[in-house]
Amino acid sequence: MKYPKDYLDEIKARLKVSNVVSRTVRLKKRGKEFVGLSPFKNERTPSFTVNDEKEFYHCFATGEHGNIFDFIMKTQNLKFGEAVKFLSSLAGMKPYTFTKHDQEREKDWNTYKEIYKIFVEYFQNELLLNNNSSVAKSYIKNRGLKLEDVKNFQLGFVTNELDFYDYLLKTFNKQDIINSGIFYLDEKKQKYINRFRERIIFPIKNISGDIIAIGGRAIKENNFIAKYINSPETKFFKKGSNLYNLDKSRILSNKVDYVYLVEGYMDVIGLSRNKIQNAVANLGTALTSRQISMLCQFFDKIIICFDGDDSGYKAALRAAENSIIEIKPEKKISFLFLPDKHDPDTYVNKFGKDKFLEFSNQNAIEIHKFIFNHYFNEVDDNPSSKAIFEKKLKSIASTIKDEFIKKYVLDYYLEEISKLSPNIYRGNQFKQKINARSLKSTQKYYNETKSLTSIEIKEFSFLYILIKKPEFIRENIHLIENVKLFTNENKILFEALIEQSNRFQEFDINKLNIDKNLIDRVFKYASIKNIWDKSLNNDEKLENIISEIIRDLKNYELEIRIQDLEEKFSKDLSEDTFNQLKELKKLQNLN
Ligand code: UTP
Ligand code: MN
Repeated sequence: MKYPKDYLDEIKARLKVSNVVSRTVRLKKRGKEFVGLSPFKNERTPSFTVNDEKEFYHCFATGEHGNIFDFIMKTQNLKFGEAVKFLSSLAGMKPYTFTKHDQEREKDWNTYKEIYKIFVEYFQNELLLNNNSSVAKSYIKNRGLKLEDVKNFQLGFVTNELDFYDYLLKTFNKQDIINSGIFYLDEKKQKYINRFRERIIFPIKNISGDIIAIGGRAIKENNFIAKYINSPETKFFKKGSNLYNLDKSRILSNKVDYVYLVEGYMDVIGLSRNKIQNAVANLGTALTSRQISMLCQFFDKIIICFDGDDSGYKAALRAAENSIIEIKPEKKISFLFLPDKHDPDTYVNKFGKDKFLEFSNQNAIEIHKFIFNHYFNEVDDNPSSKAIFEKKLKSIASTIKDEFIKKYVLDYYLEEISKLSPNIYRGNQFKQKINARSLKSTQKYYNETKSLTSIEIKEFSFLYILIKKPEFIRENIHLIENVKLFTNENKILFEALIEQSNRFQEFDINKLNIDKNLIDRVFKYASIKNIWDKSLNNDEKLENIISEIIRDLKNYELEIRIQDLEEKFSKDLSEDTFNQLKELKKLQNLN
């Protein structure tokens, strides 16, 4: 059986050749094309090219040439049907199932498209040529649109004169006309009425550019009717799966890597008139993650720019929570809020392209930060409110599909949360004493002893002081005995030193039951010895030095524990692990 052409076209429209190819071939951008080493031949210099605009690849070494289906068939040794299955799933589409209704469906689809095409053409003519469209014409003019824009976006006006239903009946059967969704039944009059009458119409197209629905704007502000209405959902129009102007924007994705996602038809048109053509709108419903993932097929950055009013903000928040799931290392989503009372249309018309882009560059905020800021502003200063805040952030972050980004966002949230309440830990006396920064001079010696880890050298310095100044152990035993060392050998020496001091034995390094080599190493590598003499008789200075070393050791321990917990958390996402992590991060921030 044959796949319907529009199904295959949609796969092609959704997938750039370079995206498909770069899954297996490393590509480099060169001008409009990509080049890489041929997958059809062993070679050292690249002779394989990919052209997204022309939708093909070409290998100059072997003469292989084709589209994404050919590529998958040849490189993965698949039959056509298998390649279609593979690519449709990559494109986020349902697999095509052949049934005996397929032909019928395809026939319905062709009729559906045809009706919309006729509808749009007819009423564009009405707008441009019918004298009775003058109110609509001047409305359009007042909004700054030119003939060029009307043609570009195929705007029209539904005049009241013709009974379009009857007009269509000449060519199509009743059921097909009703299936289009253009008409509703007036029960009283038992008549099918064009729902877009007296409205400016905006054709909504699918990704391949076929008209599949209509948006209509009333030209008189009126509380009794909705300002905008759309075609209802039909067999061929699902709101959450389409975006206004995606068909045109996606072609630009060969040139720009970002796209604006706005609320309204007029926003798209306003931006486009001002030479920002990479803009789509989400058709007056809540943004879905499907729409975001569609955009991600073409663009690396999505800037969601909703109106500067309350409802725009609420819609943005909802959009953020629905779309955060799609962020990936190479896919960024950010939000842009325009000054109060502006939407993208009014802003760009008033201030122009450059100002709009400048404003966007300066004010777009990354999705996870936007979400954080929003919930942070809602937190009250009490434990239960804070707990709810944390839970909320955590549950939002845990929806993110990409593991790497999920961890990054969770880390960001943890970090921010831990900054909120660091004071809790200020009671610790020991901590208060330590306020000197880490010693630059000791750091210098780390580099000279590359074979050792910095933590080992820290430990040597620590042990060196204990050996050189044994009385210091006894006087500061509370400070010292809980220090944790990481190198096994150093641990042994440390324990021996503590034990000797606990037994109140006269300190004698030779009486320690310790490998002499180890003590030699301490003396050789302890970077502290280089500044030792100057500090030896200065108790306060010595205390500072040792406090710093202890702090660094503790931080290292924290670091290790945090790393372990992060690892654990990225797997179990458990409440417990999250709380432990949070506490550790708080401690870390204090040090
Ligand atoms: P807005 O009310 O923000 O309108 O609706 P707008 O885009 O600024 O339009 P103008 O400038 O007044 O002409 C934004 C989008 O929300 C949907 C439409 O898709 C609209 O483009 N909407 C709005 C509806 O579906 N129904 C409505 O009644 C209003
Ligand atoms: Mn507007």
